[in-house]
Amino acid sequence: MTNVAKVINGKLIASELRAETAVKVENFKKEFSKVPTLAVVLVGEDPASQVYVSTKSKMAKEIGMDVEDHYLDVTVSEEKLLEVVNMLNNDQKVNGILVQLPLPSHIDSRLIIDAIDPIKDVDGFHAINVGRNSIGGDLLDKTFTPCTPLGCYLMLKNHISDMKGLHAVIIGRSNIVGKPMAQLLLEESCTVSIVHSKTKNIEEMTRQGDIVVAAVGRPLMVKKEWIKPGAVVIDVGINRVDNPNTGKNKLVGDVDYDGVAEVASAITPVPGGVGPMTIACLLKNTLDAALRQEKSK
Ligand code: GUN
Repeated sequence: MTNVAKVINGKLIASELRAETAVKVENFKKEFSKVPTLAVVLVGEDPASQVYVSTKSKMAKEIGMDVEDHYLDVTVSEEKLLEVVNMLNNDQKVNGILVQLPLPSHIDSRLIIDAIDPIKDVDGFHAINVGRNSIGGDLLDKTFTPCTPLGCYLMLKNHISDMKGLHAVIIGRSNIVGKPMAQLLLEESCTVSIVHSKTKNIEEMTRQGDIVVAAVGRPLMVKKEWIKPGAVVIDVGINRVDNPNTGKNKLVGDVDYDGVAEVASAITPVPGGVGPMTIACLLKNTLDAALRQEKSK
């Protein structure tokens, strides 16, 4: 009989996390007589970024937060963008700042991210927060963990209570997902490998993983043969591909879901897996930011 993997329901776990955060938002409002506030900065009109940003704003409002959207023209100068970030840093009402990436090529993204006050850096991308995530331990209470890897981690935790000693293979070495994912899983005492576009025998390496996290942005790259029977597979990919049957496009992950579900013990779907978790984690980080800012007064 063919194995059929358990589906890890990111949509459901995310809605539970949002409900928990909504209760904390209510308590925050009562205790401090103010509303946790997220500022979202979007430069340009990239359609995918527009969808992400509007979903983030909508979800934040749904759980009782305030959201300030700052939409800037694609031609905005680095200097002007820095001014906006500084204005948000100094605005007492704003608790969390998110600058949607990627930024246009004439802007130095690192310069912009490192201009965000680390206590408002709800993406966890500022070099100080990256450093704290890397050191781990007690410093994890002082940092923000990037939302996508945090979402992946919470889904893994929901499925595997003790990850100690498991071999986790992460496909992709980005600063947004691959590297922080490795830190989180090391903190859980996993054995961690990161494989990427230059890795020799990527298929063979991936097949060693008890846990596989795919974050490469290549539609359906990870096939059934890449996966050890019984592995838990997290698919971070959100790729739009043409559907020849309907003439429209559809979302697919980095994992060939149908094939991999025949060998994995559990798998996240696309859509309905990592995507909703990323947003729920952003809201959690924003509430944490608001609480930390109150405590530091
Ligand atoms: N672009 C893709 N993912 C992210 C994210 O998590 N945060 C921001 N700011 N930009 C992104």
